[in-house]
Amino acid sequence: MTDPARRLAPVVRLAPAKVNLTLAVLGIRPDGYHELHSVMVPTGVADRLSLAVLPPGGADTLHVDGFDPGPLADNLVLRAIAAARAAARAAGFEPKLLLPLAARLEKRIPVAAGLAGGSSDAAAATDAALEAWGVDLPVETRRRIAAGLGSDVPFFAVGGPALVEGRGERLTPLAWLRDAPGWPDRPGLLLVTPDVPLATPAVFRAWDLGARGPAGAARLASSHLADELRRGMLTSDMLLVRASVLAAANDLAPAAAAVEPALVPFKRALLRQLGVPVGVSGSGPTHWALYASRAGAEEAAAKLREAVASGALVSPGPRPPFIEATTITAPASESLP
Ligand code: C5P
Repeated sequence: MTDPARRLAPVVRLAPAKVNLTLAVLGIRPDGYHELHSVMVPTGVADRLSLAVLPPGGADTLHVDGFDPGPLADNLVLRAIAAARAAARAAGFEPKLLLPLAARLEKRIPVAAGLAGGSSDAAAATDAALEAWGVDLPVETRRRIAAGLGSDVPFFAVGGPALVEGRGERLTPLAWLRDAPGWPDRPGLLLVTPDVPLATPAVFRAWDLGARGPAGAARLASSHLADELRRGMLTSDMLLVRASVLAAANDLAPAAAAVEPALVPFKRALLRQLGVPVGVSGSGPTHWALYASRAGAEEAAAKLREAVASGALVSPGPRPPFIEATTITAPASESLP
């Protein structure tokens, strides 16, 4: 166990949103989940989680600011802390030392948006809880906890781009983009989330019922991208050569549009406004576009905000869309100073 004095300071983690650059749905598995082939990347948009140790005897608590994640009792942060505690007990750590935790979550990632914010919070909470208790668990045990919390959770342990297969539990880390002269190593990324939260199971069900893209196209694009990243892809190739193929390579996009038909005219309007390929992340409704730099994404974000304000871009849902300029983030070990 760790020095008790360390527990006075809360453990703080940033929990990044992910984007699917490709997402192929290969079929339904006997357990009802879907077999996937997806290239996922972490982004610079992140929730902030802090965990402080409470005196013995009470329950874990959670306070959330920012986007409303729904009922706190269902929140993956509390479930992740409980799962970490159970795993620590099973590994022989003294239960009375696995003290209750007070979690504070600043939700900056839109909820039910295809960005896996809740899953990222769960991954961060598992890690932070173990650190708060001073408990180290083997990688295999951590992996099991993550997979038990949700299909998207294991990805966040990679810390960089990864090929995601199976239900989400089979991960192959992919090499980071290589610079071509004059290109930054972190492509700019524009995220646009209309205010129409989509439940992932409903989108998969729509896929089951036949709302699908052209058979095999997303799978081919996904395999190509994974291979290219493995070999060391140039940023310029991703942006200039691959962007339009990637933007089309999401098998859940037609299913998301079947659940929320207003996404069809919305995407058309976005394409008109931006003039660059626009993809969908996960089960939607977040749309993404790649830029040569963060500044390029910021310029596009400003233009879109103006279009929303003037009524030139009509976004479905009661509130204006979430529009954020950021970057795809490099793995920690390769990130810039
Ligand atoms: O694993 P998780 O609880 O995050 O998944 C949420 C829902 O998304 C599942 O209940 C299932 O309906 C669907 N899903 C799926 N196949 C996957 C991942 C998720 O069908 N690979």
